[in-house]
Amino acid sequence: MAIDYHQKKHIFTLQTAHTTYQMKVDAYGFLLHLYYGGSINGDMDYLLTYYDRGFSGNPFDVRNDRTYSLDMLPQEYAVMGTGDYRNHALVIHNADGTDCCDLRYVRHEIRKGKYGLPGLPAVFAAEQEAQTIEIVLEDPVSRVQVSLLYGVLEAEDIITRSAVIRNCGSGEIVVEKAASVCLDFITGEYDLISFYGRHAMERSFQRTRIAHGTQAIGSRRGTSSHQYNPAVILAGRDATEDTGSCYGLMFVYSGNFLCEAERDQYDQTRVVMGLQSDQFHYPLGGGASFTVPETVLCYSGEGFATLSGRFHRLISDHLIRGKYSRSPRPVLLNSWEASYFDFTGETIVSLAGEAAKLGIDMVVMDDGWFGKRPDDNSGLGDWQVNEDKLGCSLGELIRQVNALGVKFGIWIEPEMISEDSELFRSHPDWALCIPGRKPVYGRNQLVLDFSRKDVRDAVFEQICAVLDQGNIEYVKWDMNRSIADVYSMTGTAESQGRVTYDYVLGVYDFLERLNTRYPDMLIEGCSGGGGRFDAGMMYYTPQIWCSDNTDAIDRVRIQYGTSFFYPASVTGAHVSAVPNHQTGRCTSLHTRGIVAMAGTFGYELDPAKLTEAEQEEIRAQIRRYKECEQIIRCGSYYRLSDPYRDAYAAWMFVSEDEMRVLMSVVMLENHGNMTVTYVKYKGLRPDAVYEDQRTHCRHYGSALMEAGIPMPVEPGEYLAYETELVRVQ
Ligand code: GLA
Repeated sequence: MAIDYHQKKHIFTLQTAHTTYQMKVDAYGFLLHLYYGGSINGDMDYLLTYYDRGFSGNPFDVRNDRTYSLDMLPQEYAVMGTGDYRNHALVIHNADGTDCCDLRYVRHEIRKGKYGLPGLPAVFAAEQEAQTIEIVLEDPVSRVQVSLLYGVLEAEDIITRSAVIRNCGSGEIVVEKAASVCLDFITGEYDLISFYGRHAMERSFQRTRIAHGTQAIGSRRGTSSHQYNPAVILAGRDATEDTGSCYGLMFVYSGNFLCEAERDQYDQTRVVMGLQSDQFHYPLGGGASFTVPETVLCYSGEGFATLSGRFHRLISDHLIRGKYSRSPRPVLLNSWEASYFDFTGETIVSLAGEAAKLGIDMVVMDDGWFGKRPDDNSGLGDWQVNEDKLGCSLGELIRQVNALGVKFGIWIEPEMISEDSELFRSHPDWALCIPGRKPVYGRNQLVLDFSRKDVRDAVFEQICAVLDQGNIEYVKWDMNRSIADVYSMTGTAESQGRVTYDYVLGVYDFLERLNTRYPDMLIEGCSGGGGRFDAGMMYYTPQIWCSDNTDAIDRVRIQYGTSFFYPASVTGAHVSAVPNHQTGRCTSLHTRGIVAMAGTFGYELDPAKLTEAEQEEIRAQIRRYKECEQIIRCGSYYRLSDPYRDAYAAWMFVSEDEMRVLMSVVMLENHGNMTVTYVKYKGLRPDAVYEDQRTHCRHYGSALMEAGIPMPVEPGEYLAYETELVRVQ
């Protein structure tokens, strides 16, 4: 049993294969956190200490026991107003104007299977694979109830957490802050690893010491953002890629979020992960409830590699759904960097012709095919095919593409509206805009109010009318600005505080309907590249365009940061032209191919502009990718270098049956009389023998892992190498 309840001691123990999580209801009904980490036996309440501490108050119930204070005890769900002055998981504004909520244990229930969250993405599991515990707490005065939900996936070493807040009283309350996780550590010193960035340079690795005070990352942009990814690692000071304790927290949500890490006055650490509290004031009338999106937790005692492996497996097996969760993805040729807005139907058909010659599976017609859209200043919202531009109907275009043996995909940006569009002229109130104020532009476009069902319905109808015109097998769902001007025209003053949350649920509702109506269609997420690259989107879009930056050298760092939580099977990566359109850098086609093969592979260039020799090389690349596709999509991924520090980037995949190994290296620096780089493998069987498929040299796994293999010293910039090993005994 993954979940155990010790009735006499009121202790809950959640066990996974290698980890234990423990909490306890104490004599006063407070739910205290006891332990999270490597597997242990027994009760951990002996860890709690009680001392009289000045200015750390005592709850009324304990009377004159000055040694009991919620200001220092570890808690499962810290709430504002109880004498705990650290960061809170929940802040409730009561009908009487106060900000107080005193949650005490009421009941709990242990169930088979993993809980689901209506309207929100969440980890799923078969009934025998998971257990759920729901612990209900209540504030007896306001009658605010909180159900803490824990999902335990024992074999995966994963614990998920969410919370449902219910107003069981009669007055209207406002949820001012709500997190799904509050994780307290009474001992230890930690670093916070987060993944920051900007458009075209997402998910850069950053490791900082958690000092006294609060370190916070988050988003106020309406999306999870390029700037901070909603996933962090709490790492022991000495934790490395392969050693030491670390905890991963991955928020399964695509909008505003907040993660706070704090070292308190007693050198204890608290991490809170949940919804952003800015621009969030969620009103709850009597009887109403509110669900906080889920956070996935994982602990590794063997460093980041193990942590990443567990998150990759979880995303692949328990978050991604539908036909493409277990099947190969098409190799794409996207029209964006090939022709931007400057194309006709003929351009697309000729791209398809080139694709057919090269062995590419699908052509994607990117931005510019609809309404009046000669550039990015107009047309969003008018999802009618511009037949004048294409020179034919969409159905006819798709037939021509399909006749070449090539699949067809299309780009959409359903959440947006241009002021210069028919949609805006007839429904100006559908855009998010604050009455009496001028809106903030982003890429000269406004955001549709997706918190409104009528707006979503109208766009859904338009988009379906397009998708029904032919055999469309792929959609790229884009979102190209940060949200500002949060105001819904049909709402009341009180309801404006829920718009940021309702907007994201609106996006999920739209995506769910799209998936249901077109179950065989592959949807790739995108937000100016990786601006909404999060686990929430992965529930609906099994792959996401990783970055608008297609430069192979920048990409190794972007993909490195991405890999800490997200598997290669969700990471959109394409070979583009040189000089690269974002950086102006030139790298060889070989290097670009190797980097793009660490994701869902494709091309973002005009093949007609390539030489015959380059085209031949692309044919070989695609053959190679198809040979290795299963290892990349389903295998175990390992980082073999730190491309921020090392002179080379290296990574590898081991196939599910552990028979094939694919290792890739990109040299980031070259100097005169260059030193030799030795790359050490990981994840092999030490006593097995592996054969290099090119040189036929054989080595023991132990040798490859302990001593590594030398990379060639050759003149040339950004050279890349790939080796394939096969286990021979
Ligand atoms: C975003 C995407 C690009 C492309 C353009 C089209 O920037 O990330 O790949 O689709 O929009 O406008």
